[in-house]
Amino acid sequence: MFSRFFKRGQSEKERYNDLPIPENANWSFLGTDIHSHFVPGIDDGAKTIDDSLVMLRAMEAMGYKSIVTTPHIMIDFYPNTPTSIQNGLLKIQEAADKNNIKLNIRAAAEYYIDEYFVTLVGKEKLLTVHNNEVLVEFSMLYEPPRLSNTLFNMISEGYKPIIAHPERYAFMHNQMERYRELRDRGCRLQLNMMSITGYYGRNVMNVALALLEKGLYDYCGTDMHHEKHAEVIKSMLQTRAYTTLVNYPFLNSKLCF
Ligand SMILES: [Fe+2]
Repeated sequence: MFSRFFKRGQSEKERYNDLPIPENANWSFLGTDIHSHFVPGIDDGAKTIDDSLVMLRAMEAMGYKSIVTTPHIMIDFYPNTPTSIQNGLLKIQEAADKNNIKLNIRAAAEYYIDEYFVTLVGKEKLLTVHNNEVLVEFSMLYEPPRLSNTLFNMISEGYKPIIAHPERYAFMHNQMERYRELRDRGCRLQLNMMSITGYYGRNVMNVALALLEKGLYDYCGTDMHHEKHAEVIKSMLQTRAYTTLVNYPFLNSKLCF
């Protein structure tokens, strides 16, 4: 398993610093990215189709073959629907074709667990990343009152929740057992790759490295919103962050379409 990669008795930082730095690396071992915000003008990701193209080109250049882009559905800020997302998808597919970008592009959503989402489950067909898998996120600061019930309802309806960036939920940082519980209950966990660089802060980085070491992640995602994220993710290719991720058995490569 992944933990055999590290020596016993070292801190996470020491283990990380022991990893070799790669040459000529790319992200092709992941194949498919399952979390990004490339549809222009409908959430806090790409603002224009040119922004979308900059990020799509970067994804292709870094070795990705396929992407499932996931606009936010968050009723108070980004009240997207399957129709608004499908229309946006057609725009980026057309622009990609015109610009000779060879990525396979699909769309799903990143559903925010709020009052609205609670009412959607069981009522409307949810957008899936792959088979029955649905990307969800929730407040980083406090546990939503109906988190467990909502995840259970999703599972009862035949979905498999993918928890986006579990390492970013500060209210779970002192309850590491919660991560295993989520997985045991039928959820999958998706690492935001920039988390292991410290991009979202030291605590997030440490939790991400701990979850990697415990083998609790299923997927790796870019959660790319803009060009700066593309630059950070590209720069990771020349660091130990790449060596950490290339040795982990993520499921992404099984999703190529
Ligand atoms: Fe996201």
